[in-house]
Amino acid sequence: MSYIGERIDFYMGRIKSGRVQEMWRQTKWIYSYAKKYWIAMIFYTVLGLSGTVVALLSSLVSKDLVDIITGHQAGELAKTFAIMIGIAVFSIVISQFTSYASSWISLKVNNEIRSHIFEKILITDWESLTNYHTGDLLTRWSSDASAISDGVLSYIPNLIINLFRFFSAFAMVIYYDATFAIFALLGIPFSLLMSKTLLTRMQNNNQKSAAMSAKMSGFNQETFSNIQTIKAFDLVRLYTERLKQLQSDYLNMRMEFSRMSIWTSIILGMVGLLVSYSSYGWGIYRVWSGVISYGTMTMFLSLSGTLTGAVNSLSSMIPSAISLTTSAGRLMDIIEMPQEDYSRLDEAKHFLEMHRDSGVSLTIDSLDYSYQSGTEVFHGASFEGHPHEIIGLVGPSGEGKTTMLRLLLSLLPAHAGDAKISAADGSTLPLSPSTRQFFSYVPQGNTMLSGTIAENMRNVKPDATDEEIIEALKLACAYDFVSKLKDGINSEIKERGGGFSEGQAQRLSIARALLRKSPILLLDEASSALDITTERKVLKNIMADTYPRLCIVTTHRPTVLTLCNRVYAIRDKACDILSEDEIEHLIKDF
Ligand SMILES: Nc1ncnc2c1ncn2[C@@H]1O[C@H](COP(=O)(O)OP(=O)(O)OP(=O)(O)O)[C@@H](O)[C@H]1O
Ligand SMILES: [Mg+2]
Repeated sequence: MSYIGERIDFYMGRIKSGRVQEMWRQTKWIYSYAKKYWIAMIFYTVLGLSGTVVALLSSLVSKDLVDIITGHQAGELAKTFAIMIGIAVFSIVISQFTSYASSWISLKVNNEIRSHIFEKILITDWESLTNYHTGDLLTRWSSDASAISDGVLSYIPNLIINLFRFFSAFAMVIYYDATFAIFALLGIPFSLLMSKTLLTRMQNNNQKSAAMSAKMSGFNQETFSNIQTIKAFDLVRLYTERLKQLQSDYLNMRMEFSRMSIWTSIILGMVGLLVSYSSYGWGIYRVWSGVISYGTMTMFLSLSGTLTGAVNSLSSMIPSAISLTTSAGRLMDIIEMPQEDYSRLDEAKHFLEMHRDSGVSLTIDSLDYSYQSGTEVFHGASFEGHPHEIIGLVGPSGEGKTTMLRLLLSLLPAHAGDAKISAADGSTLPLSPSTRQFFSYVPQGNTMLSGTIAENMRNVKPDATDEEIIEALKLACAYDFVSKLKDGINSEIKERGGGFSEGQAQRLSIARALLRKSPILLLDEASSALDITTERKVLKNIMADTYPRLCIVTTHRPTVLTLCNRVYAIRDKACDILSEDEIEHLIKDF
């Protein structure tokens, strides 16, 4: 009694601790994807059930066959034999058909989950997302999504099929000789016992294994994209050792799992043997005492196999439910992060169309912002900019220049204050992810993507002609080196802008931003790798362009400041406008 009480307390504790509730929530999430495929699931279930029926029929026919041979029963040997062969062939076809159908469905679900997660990742709040390593995101997106799609469709059908297998075989046993039922049930307590031990271990192992895979994938990804740094610091040996360490940890964990599985299989196998042999012994005894025929005994032996198989399959469904829900939980972590609000996209599009030709102003008023880590960057920051202006943002490293540009792009959400775009007719639009279409951005660092130069350019303006691309490259002083390349604008750029110098990549990045022809251009130290002459030439070209662009540049370079209409210093969490004298000082002090 006290044991039962303990058990009840244990399960109640689990329910209260939210573990079961969590699993239920994850299960519902999984089926929100799978439910679309209910027809396929029914189809899959029917196929599985017919497989079971065929297996039962073949037990029955084999009984007849043995009984005919042993003269216990009259019947046509050839005909019964033919039926048996027919059933065997049919069952091969059914099982192949089932596996074809299930792989089709699982690939469909896999694609759907992955494209959904992919989209979700892209619209997730950027700062929340940066808490995850890209390797971790990649593992969740690939392995966890696959785990779900592989299991999701087969789960309910398999449950139904195995229950059906169990009860139908059991009914047949009882129909022909109820005493056999005892032997058939012999294995069940063992199977249940095994699955209970497996349950907790599986859950832990699953979580550890997922975390480990994510760590490895992050490590590899980071290593491969920083080979130059690793070589330069002579870290090849260290990194190789680190990988080996990770691999050995992974190996140990998997082997522990493997040992666990082996023990389970050995015990379940022994139980299976015990069940088979005791059924066998009991069968011989029953035949010997003349209660049943040889055929019936053959049938029982095959049914006892079916029953043990069904019980084992049912008990193995518990660990697989755990691994499915673990994966679901890992994907839900991502999906449930705060998401960006694109609800004003159409309005912003309309606003842009109305005012593209006259340009827009930007007003930032008393903006507050702190990173989630707690670093307060702005408190009451204000500035403004208008078409045809170049606004300079200066300040020491780490003051918040890049952060301000991220706020303008709504990559970060301001905590207080007012940030809006306004047009000459007085209409305004608050900054939000929907207003990103007003901006072109040249970020700090090399941000060209792999593909040709033209492809990179057309990423931001799909219908750009070659002439337009060349024009933008010329404005950014990039065409002089691009034109010398063998393939011109169709030359390949490697991953992360590889194959070009830092300054060349910067000019390509500026050209890309200019091609987009947005009313506001943000340049984050965008000309830092250029020599002074080229830098001034690029900025003059941008200014000379008749397009009513507002240009916001962050810089440490004094040469740029003389070209600015206004310069703001980012200091003490605010933006202070600098006087002519202050700017001159700044230039002199440089
Ligand atoms: N993703 C982030 N999470 C937390 N804090 C950040 C993050 N990015 C920047 N910070 C912090 O915010 C402050 C402002 O950083 P920011 O990158 O805006 O400086 P910056 O003026 O652009 O510097 P630099 O001239 O070196 O580019 C710094 O103290 C920095 O440590
Ligand atoms: Mg910066």
